[in-house]
Amino acid sequence: MRSSQLNSKEVAMKRIDVLVIGNGGREHALVAMCKKSPRVKKVFVAPGNPGMGKLATLVDIHSTDINALAAFAQKNQIGLTVVGPEAPLEAGIADLFRHKGLLICGPTAYQARLELSKAFAAKLLKKYDIPIPSSKVCTTPEAAIKAVRCAQYPLVVKPDGNTGGHGVKICKTVEQAIAHINAVMVDHIYASKGDSGNCIVLQEYLEGPEISITLLTDGKKYILLPDARDYKQRYDDDVGPMTGSMGSVSPSPVMTETLRSQIELDIVQPLLVAVREHCNGNAYCGVLYLALMITNQGPKVLEVNVRFGDSEAQAILPRIQSDLVPVLLQIANGRLEANALEIDPRHAACVNLVSRKYPAPDLMREQAITGIEDAETVAGVTVYHAGTKSNEQGQLIADGGRVLNVIGFGQTLQQATQQAYSGTAHIQFDDKSMRTDIGECS
Ligand code: GLY
Repeated sequence: MRSSQLNSKEVAMKRIDVLVIGNGGREHALVAMCKKSPRVKKVFVAPGNPGMGKLATLVDIHSTDINALAAFAQKNQIGLTVVGPEAPLEAGIADLFRHKGLLICGPTAYQARLELSKAFAAKLLKKYDIPIPSSKVCTTPEAAIKAVRCAQYPLVVKPDGNTGGHGVKICKTVEQAIAHINAVMVDHIYASKGDSGNCIVLQEYLEGPEISITLLTDGKKYILLPDARDYKQRYDDDVGPMTGSMGSVSPSPVMTETLRSQIELDIVQPLLVAVREHCNGNAYCGVLYLALMITNQGPKVLEVNVRFGDSEAQAILPRIQSDLVPVLLQIANGRLEANALEIDPRHAACVNLVSRKYPAPDLMREQAITGIEDAETVAGVTVYHAGTKSNEQGQLIADGGRVLNVIGFGQTLQQATQQAYSGTAHIQFDDKSMRTDIGECS
């Protein structure tokens, strides 16, 4: 029987197979969320990692091979595809899937420019009076170097395009700023990640606590997911280079009802208007994740992302007690109906176990990992795999800068972080390293 022959109640209850795209800890959390949904028969993940292999069927297709992913989804009658990272969105996976009549939760390639062009985002937000740090877009190294010679420091230097989360530098001196401009625009060091090196954004450095806001939207209606705090700097006390993430907590230690209303009114709602008016006639159906700085002048947008945060998702998703799959299906269908989610009031903390030299690339290979099962015997501790693989002997080894995410829960933030850290103590690999203060600074 074709789905069009089912009545609406049967359609609402029909169990589906889901495809998750990506291979990190965020996708492991998405797979776990889908796996517990009564609406889901089977979970596939492309390409996934050994941790996800316990919950889902691994599909050996790279996350940016969008034609092969669409062929797989058609052949296997996938009822919903959930995209983890930004690269497949930039490659047009949502456009292609919709063209083929496949349900997918994610924005079009054009809409993904909100994340994948910092200059596009800065100009759009400014046009709609959405508070952002003061910004200057430069399209030649000469113009950028001229601008940084008379800038105030620290100064934030952001390559325009995709740098895999490593391109933003907080420069303390003009020399550092010039060195980063040359690396990005002359040496093109992020070309392999997708950044052309043709444009750079210089931004005022702001101070204050950070909050990560995640929402699901059909372009008009939206639903807020639990807020979070991401810890991006490499070392304790928020010092050292920016990384993809060293850990996260949810809820944010500084969120209040008043602040949430202000964020919705001044940022989320005008952003949705801006996106509606600048998305070539297509509704934005997917995830929006905003990195905000709470300054003395109120919340300001540091970044707009078109996907779940990594590692915010690992702290947020386990707190959502409602079944999120029907909500993602509504989004994929362009008609959000849900307006409230049941949230576990407990705190969640995610501590990332990384390579000692992270965020420097390719520093650890073939290091055996032990103790994950012991970590998960600590009450409430869950371990997500961020960068792992199996070697030829079937042994689990570290495969990348961010290796594992250890999640703990507690009635208080302190209990949640204590629990996560108790989990980390059981896990060993040679270059294991982590921050020891996740949850301590707001
Ligand atoms: N948590 C940082 C990111 O996902 O980009």
